[in-house]
Amino acid sequence: MMIAVLLAGGNGTRFGSGRPKQFSSLDGKALLEYSLDVITSIKAIEKTILVINKRFESDYDRILKKYTHEIHKVEGGDTRQLSVYNALMFIEKEMKPLKDTDVLIHDSARPFSKTVFENVINGMVFENAVVPAIPLADTIYKCENNIVSDIPSRDQFVKVQTPQGFKFYKLLDCHKKAYGKKDVIYSDDGSLYLKYSNDSLKIVEGDQNNFKITKAVDLDIAQYILRNNQV
Ligand code: CTP
Ligand code: MG
Repeated sequence: MMIAVLLAGGNGTRFGSGRPKQFSSLDGKALLEYSLDVITSIKAIEKTILVINKRFESDYDRILKKYTHEIHKVEGGDTRQLSVYNALMFIEKEMKPLKDTDVLIHDSARPFSKTVFENVINGMVFENAVVPAIPLADTIYKCENNIVSDIPSRDQFVKVQTPQGFKFYKLLDCHKKAYGKKDVIYSDDGSLYLKYSNDSLKIVEGDQNNFKITKAVDLDIAQYILRNNQV
């Protein structure tokens, strides 16, 4: 069994619009609908959890009307990590996952994710944990107080995307261990998994088009991609 968790519970502070960016219109469709369209088109995914921002519940409901698939709403937390935690706890309690159930965690802020979903799902056939990534274009400097302290080789680094795939119970176990430890907040599940499991993380091919809408200008870039590519 494969379950998708679609994260749409953020505030979009850096995007800086009146409403969270997941509701921003891209060619007449809310950003969030792009991911829902991809997820509901994939046969291997049986159920979907949509993590929501409670203040905007009616906006999600309006969008969800379009879908006949099994999509459960779960209230998000104060951080992305807590939003994932809430979703995993809901799945454990309400969905009775099997021992080998896979979970795919995806940011709704990445509208063009179809190819990467396929790559990650294929990777999950052989692996317990799969993260998509792309090479870096820029050179990376390590700095402290604006003084360069190290220039690592760019070849050692990749840029990480979502969806990220995990055996459900393994990721749940890591999130339970991380819960309550307030010192570090993990910005993705791969890094939390690396910290709390003894497993390795397998990298599969990401996609440049699967970038994350973070600032307002990113929506213009997404518009451009939509007009010029088949995504
Ligand atoms: N997210 C979430 N719950 C949170 C924070 C983030 O579900 N408490 C989701 C966002 O909706 C987004 C994804 O996680 O789809 C990646 O987060 P990010 O790009 O940081 O979005 P926001 O947190 O909404 O934006 P910002 O950090 O600028 O406030
Ligand atoms: Mg955020």
